[in-house]
Amino acid sequence: MKIVTVLGARPQFIKAAPVCRVFRDAGINETIIHTGQHYDHAMSQVFFDQLGIPAPEVNLGVGSGSHGKQTGAMLAGIEEILLDRRPDRVLVYGDTNSTLAGALAAVKLGVPIAHVEAGLRSFNRSMPEEHNRVVADHVADWLFCPTATAVENLRRENITRGVELVGDTMYDAIMLFTPLAERSTAILQELSLEPNKYILATIHRPSNTDVPEHLAQILMALSSVDEPVVLPVHPRTQARMHADPTIQAIIRHDNLRIVEPVGYLEMLVLTRHARIVATDSGGLQKEAYMCGKPCVTLREETEWVETVQAGWSVLVGPNASRIIAAVTSFQPPIDRPAIFGNGDAAHVIVQALL
Ligand code: UD1
Ligand code: UDP
Repeated sequence: MKIVTVLGARPQFIKAAPVCRVFRDAGINETIIHTGQHYDHAMSQVFFDQLGIPAPEVNLGVGSGSHGKQTGAMLAGIEEILLDRRPDRVLVYGDTNSTLAGALAAVKLGVPIAHVEAGLRSFNRSMPEEHNRVVADHVADWLFCPTATAVENLRRENITRGVELVGDTMYDAIMLFTPLAERSTAILQELSLEPNKYILATIHRPSNTDVPEHLAQILMALSSVDEPVVLPVHPRTQARMHADPTIQAIIRHDNLRIVEPVGYLEMLVLTRHARIVATDSGGLQKEAYMCGKPCVTLREETEWVETVQAGWSVLVGPNASRIIAAVTSFQPPIDRPAIFGNGDAAHVIVQALL
């Protein structure tokens, strides 16, 4: 069986890593197309190196651009490869423009599509991810859902065929890579952080970064707490921070440790030893839960509603006083139900595809 996997952005490399490993162990031929959506070493190559993801056979080198330009260039490039390779299945992950382009290219050529992380909904149509995931789900043949809510979201849209609750491959990744991460990184020492005595934060949603007042509120809150805050900064956010003198003044506070994006292994260690996480990242919201860390979610809604219902995540939006109150006093309960499966999502996915 010939599989083509389309990847392009940071979270997709992490979601795919456990699945690539199962394909490899089963001797299945997987061709990876990298769209080139993320291209900095720290946003792309580091994950291939750390997680042992096979090198992409093709890198389309599409790079950054407006949604239409970027997605269109990917669509044309992926189509060409699919016409040449004639795979039996195309695999797409998550909800980025690379997901959308992979799914569209495949459906138009009649190649069956598997969507990993299907059924997620924020019900906020101003998010680019919401367009991408809705379209991908409606053209997919296999819809691998990470949570029961995702299955239910699809049922409400009359999608039941091909839907399977498999758990989350990001949980598989945590199970696979935690020992290696703990052995091989010294990130806490490098950043002079003490376990359970710092906040781990990330910000990259356009709704937070592209509205200067929102970014200022978040950074004001994080810079005003009496505790180190480590902020590995996404290039989108970096660009906005540089452009804004008000933000430049805020980020001079001593407690903020603003660093370049870190590798997955470093991020895993940072998450596992943080006191609390503050983020607008989809992936990090889940990882906080998986690692037993409370999460202050810098959004007004989330796709990962189970983490909020379980009492481990609180939605605060880009509002300084709500953020400060949450990072200083939010306490999760003792109970932490297994929302994301048991770490064998990748095996179940590969079995279903075979
Ligand atoms: C994309 C995804 C988002 C996902 C995020 C993960 C879409 C619409 N958005 O958002 O769902 O949560 O990836 O991180 O697909 N840039 C660099 N170097 C890079 C990559 C990007 O400098 O390697 C800068 C460029 O200025 C670019 C900006 O970051 O314009 C945004 O990159 P882009 O891939 O368009 O969107 P993300 O915000 O990364
Ligand atoms: N991540 C990382 N280094 C960083 C920031 C994030 O390895 O500096 C990982 C994080 O642990 C998670 C994934 O990247 O596995 C989430 O990606 P991101 O926040 O970019 O996108 P989202 O999940 O919101 O789509």
